[in-house]
Amino acid sequence: MKKIVSSNYSIWIGENSLSELNVKSYSKVAILVDENTKKDCLYKLPNIEKPIIIEIPSGERNKNITTCNIIWEELTNNEFDRDSILINLGGGVIGDIGGFCASTYKRGIDFIHIPTTLLAMADASIGGKLAVDFNNLKNHIGLFSNPKSVIIDPNFLDTLPENQLISGFAEVVKHALISDKNLWKTIKETPFKKLAWEKIITISAELKNRIILNDPKEKGERKKLNFGHTFGHAIESYYLEKGTPILHGEGVFMGMILETEISILSNSDKNEIKNYILANFGLPYTPPKAELLKFLKNDKKNKSKKINFSLLNGIGRCIIDNLLTENEL
Ligand SMILES: NC(=O)c1ccc[n+]([C@@H]2O[C@H](COP(=O)([O-])OP(=O)(O)OC[C@H]3O[C@@H](n4cnc5c(N)ncnc54)[C@H](O)[C@@H]3O)[C@@H](O)[C@H]2O)c1
Repeated sequence: MKKIVSSNYSIWIGENSLSELNVKSYSKVAILVDENTKKDCLYKLPNIEKPIIIEIPSGERNKNITTCNIIWEELTNNEFDRDSILINLGGGVIGDIGGFCASTYKRGIDFIHIPTTLLAMADASIGGKLAVDFNNLKNHIGLFSNPKSVIIDPNFLDTLPENQLISGFAEVVKHALISDKNLWKTIKETPFKKLAWEKIITISAELKNRIILNDPKEKGERKKLNFGHTFGHAIESYYLEKGTPILHGEGVFMGMILETEISILSNSDKNEIKNYILANFGLPYTPPKAELLKFLKNDKKNKSKKINFSLLNGIGRCIIDNLLTENEL
């Protein structure tokens, strides 16, 4: 088992990491699940005395304030006080909404993330960003708040559908492209099905943790993590508005292709990245840029009406705050 120390909490990674789940000191314990993590993951948790199970419907379309009401109501009806804790057992949706609800319930109760998707293990559970979607705008309402701990057991991936595994892999590819040339080499040279998940998750989690420790509130270096996400979020919002949501990682893969095109890279690097993604992962149709503009204009990172991109200036290197006008896209 590996322990990564973050600002005021630890991230445990490995087959025995669930032994670090200790909630005995809390007055009440709730476990947030969706229908899939209830079925495939809940039984794998160590015994907890009389937990309240809060189930919400799965999927991005439910990462909204209406679903928050279900969670806040359950906590209220079960008389959760400030000494109680919420365990978020699931993917990035459960982690984001569970952390958001815990951090706002009675001005904040403790929460623990137990991520069960690759995306949540390698990325979403680390860094304290919590949010819900609002009026088809991704992560529009949220805050920064850290969990008490993050417990990552890669065995949860055994039941994860392959498209979800691929979606999570987009964030791993992003981590490699923005700051780890060796990881990019491993990814490129190893067939997807042969990748060693525990090792990949550990490298990815360490890399993200290093960045957020340097810049917890996204004033500088942390913005590198937005590579692929400016276009990626716009594409996700486009599909969300159409009523046919795509997976987050699919949006990020398409976003990375579009943002590679406007990056400061040699043509051979651009082709290497685009060809790798296109050859290995079937992606939905990429909407024309004109259709994405209204979402790009609402991006939280924009400055003086310009769209703010984190772009590559080499494989394994990233520069932040590239401000582009609509016409420059
Ligand atoms: N907070 C952050 O820093 C951050 C970073 C990246 C992404 N995100 C957010 O993460 C979300 C996407 O997360 P996700 O890709 O994990 O999606 P998700 O939470 O929707 O999970 C994907 C699907 O897999 C199912 N599932 C989860 N674990 C399973 C398991 N072990 N076995 C079987 N089924 C399982 C879920 O029920 C769901 O249907 C987005 O909302 C995105 O905005 C947040």
